[in-house]
Parts: sequence; C-alpha cells; structure tokens
Amino acid sequence: MPRWDRIRDDFPVTEKYTYLSNAAISPIPKQVLEESLKFYQELSEHGGAFWEVWTEKMEQTRDIYAKFIHAHRDEVGFTHSTSEGMNIIAHMLSSKGSVISNELEFPSSILPWLNRDADMIFVRPKKGKILKEDIANSINQNTKTVVVSHVQYSTGWRQDLADLSELTSERGLYLVVNPTQSLGALYFNVRDFNIDFMASNGHKWILSSFGIGAIYVKKEYLEDLERFKPPFYSQLGQKQREIFDNKKINMSNTASRFELGSPHFSNILSLKSAIEYITKIGIEQIEKRILYLTEHLVEKLREFKVEIISPLEEEKGRSGIIVFKERNAQEIVRKLERRRIMVSARGDGIRVSPHFYNNENDIDKLASELKYLI
Ligand SMILES: Cc1ncc(COP(=O)(O)O)c(C=O)c1O
Repeated sequence: MPRWDRIRDDFPVTEKYTYLSNAAISPIPKQVLEESLKFYQELSEHGGAFWEVWTEKMEQTRDIYAKFIHAHRDEVGFTHSTSEGMNIIAHMLSSKGSVISNELEFPSSILPWLNRDADMIFVRPKKGKILKEDIANSINQNTKTVVVSHVQYSTGWRQDLADLSELTSERGLYLVVNPTQSLGALYFNVRDFNIDFMASNGHKWILSSFGIGAIYVKKEYLEDLERFKPPFYSQLGQKQREIFDNKKINMSNTASRFELGSPHFSNILSLKSAIEYITKIGIEQIEKRILYLTEHLVEKLREFKVEIISPLEEEKGRSGIIVFKERNAQEIVRKLERRRIMVSARGDGIRVSPHFYNNENDIDKLASELKYLI
C-alpha cells in the first residue's frame, strides 16, 4: 500500500491550496519539476552539446510511454497537445467515411473532424452516459470511424472501451480514443481496449505539464504509408533523421513520422519523469485511491442533497471526475477560489476532480465550505 501521506509531500501545491481541479490542470510533483529544470540548466551551460543525451532520453521516453499504454514503441509519436494529435488522426481518416461521436465530447475531439468537413453523427447522452447501443444504432453503411473520450470531461462517465471495441471491430470501424481525462488516473491499455488511434496530452492526470502530448497509431496502419500519410512533414520524421535531402521524402514507418521539427525536449523529459513517478506508485493503486476519494466526496455531497450529474450506478463507469448541479457554479467556484479551494465550473454545475495526492481532509474542507455557500 503506498504511503499516501508521504506522496503528498511531493506536491507543494498542497501547502497552499485545497487543490481539487486535476481534470483541468494538474500540478506537477517535485520530481518532474527537477527534470525539467535540469534540461534548461544543461541548455544554459552547454548549449547543444547534450543533443545526443537528450535524443537518447527522448527515445527512452518513447519506450516508457509505450509500456505505460501497452503499445509498441513504434506506435507512439510525441505531439504538443491532444488537439494536435486529433488533427493528425482526422487528416488521415476523415475522408474514409462518416464519423460517429457524441454531444459530450470536449472540442479537441470534434473540431479537427469538422474542419475536414467530415460527415458526422452525434450520439445524445443519456443521464450523462454515452451508451454502446446508441452508437450501434447510429452506424450506417457509410460509417468508418467512432471517436470517443475514455472519460467525459463534463460528466465523468467512463466508457467501457473493451466492450465498445467489440462493436467497432465487428463492424470494421476505426476506434479513435481521447484518454486525456483518464491517462495517469485510471487503467488504460490500447491492446485490451483494441484501440486503433489515440491522442492525449500531458497537463492533466498524467502530471507532466503543458506543451506535450502523444499520438498512438496501431502498427498495421503505420505500415500502409500510402493510405495513412501525415498531414504535414518534417525532416525529423525521415527514416534516417540525419539525412538532409530535399529531393524526396523518405518517410519513417513508425509514429515518429508525426513529430514536427526539433523536439520539445524539456516537455518530453517531464513526461518521462511523470510516467516513472506514476508507475512507481502503480496505476492500479492510483485508480483505487481516486475512486475511494471520489466515493468519500459523493457521501459528503449526499449529506446536503445536491444533485449529482455524474453517473454513479456502475463502478466501471466511474472516474476521477464528480460533477454536481449548481445554478451559480461560476460564482461559487470564484468564492471557493478566494478560500484557496480549487474546483471548476463545467457542464451544468461544479466539477471536483481529486488525484491520488489529495486526502479526506481536502474533501471535508470543500464539503464544509459548500454546505455554507450553497
Ligand atoms: C477530454 C479532453 N480533451 C482535450 C482537452 C484539451 O486538450 P489540448 O489542449 O491538449 O488539446 C481537454 C481539456 O482541456 C479535455 O478535457
């Protein structure tokens, strides 16, 4: 059992705030900060002399990331954000047939497809959930792709991806997943879930800050260079990166071909450090801890009878996000902020999203303020 009290000391944010807004922006632990500072120190004192050290660490990060999501290293490419990754995927798939998504998605999942004039169908949520049967009923002869978040940002609904992928593989559809609200918080496995494409970022539960993301592309599509060309191309995506040849493209058949320009090393190294940190604690332990804290929160909220929007009936549909209805959400969030309690106004109410470094006291403190404010 991890020593949660000691782990809390790695998060200086806890000395200043009751921070319960990890679904918006997670604070980074000390270890990640140190790794990022180390890079800038090296750059400041040595210029580019550490290039090879950094590129080697970048490739180690690829290994670590791939292991974390249960992919092959060739299937992982670094991006700057979920939006960048989703734009790449939309570029490759939008012309292949129509796309089913849903009305709960964060814009990063949807806008890249609309921008490509994709033919889209939006499934309506039922009590905060996206039901597999509603996705199934939306499939027609033109459907080629299903785009869905693992966890919905505005309700906390966790999609059963293993179950959904039975449908997508049976019907020959691409399953595109946005796991921004689950990576680093909940078990996630591209093989178990049979995911075809994935795009995510670094500044939420995965604890590695801004300007970093990753794309996952199943190997079989990477081998099909003609059908799945990237939308843009750079020297670094070449098979042999040191070749400066402007006469022909020598495209890499790994997901590194989606990486544009010189790498954002400090962000990649932060990601490495964050995944090492998370892996040391263990994602199963982290998931249990988060579900325990959210259950504690739900019990507290029930004491003063707020309406909880997040679907709670099934354990496997739950996540690190709890949203409850509140008409004056913005105002209450601002009042809480003045008391250094951080939550967000999202969906139709207030979103609370504890991470593993939070504790019962954080939840109790929020609850006692809410009791008074609502
Ligand atoms: C589900 C989801 N996807 C994507 C994003 C944003 O991603 P990015 O800014 O990296 O494109 C958010 C939140 O901000 C989100 O909740």
